Amino acid sequence: MATRRAKPAIALSICLLAAVTATFAIAFVAASASLTPPATAIDEHSYAEEVATAMAGSSAASGQTLIAEYGCGACHISGEGRVAPLFAGIGARAARRRPPLSAEQYLFESILYPGALVLDGYANAMPANFRDRLTLTEIGHIIAYLLTLDEATGNT
Ligand code: HEC
Repeated sequence: MATRRAKPAIALSICLLAAVTATFAIAFVAASASLTPPATAIDEHSYAEEVATAMAGSSAASGQTLIAEYGCGACHISGEGRVAPLFAGIGARAARRRPPLSAEQYLFESILYPGALVLDGYANAMPANFRDRLTLTEIGHIIAYLLTLDEATGNT
């Protein structure tokens, strides 16, 4: 009796498991699809929509906090054995790095898809998972903060 009852219960569990897995798979694909993949051929429209959304209401002060929180300074810091470029002066540099991308578009791409352009003299060592860890709003805050940095500021 007990074993006969157990079978439908197992079948039901398997169905439930399959349903839950499918739901997660669909949610994952939907979430991944919500961000533009790295542009293979860039133009002035690349990332433009997301950048506009990210920058709406962005706060440089929040960006500074997030940069500390996410440990960007572990690599982007002055000193010996530095593995990444300093943030000092990045606001002006970003505008020239990858024409026709604007400074905002370039910073957006650098944070989400660091492999899209690996700077001369550096390894492709920037973590590629910030796109999963940061919300669009947080990315906007970080970009706003980076844009405020001139040569004298931002040596984290
Ligand atoms: C493990 C080391 C590491 C960490 C942590 C890291 N980065 Fe980077 N980052 C790099 C390296 C290496 C480069 C240069 C290579 C390249 O172009 O991908 C880079 C490049 C960049 C650039 C382009 C810089 C330029 O001068 O054009 C930006 C912007 C940037 N990182 C932002 C960030 C932000 C924001 C964080 C934290 C949320 C962060 N990085 C965390 C290693 C790191």
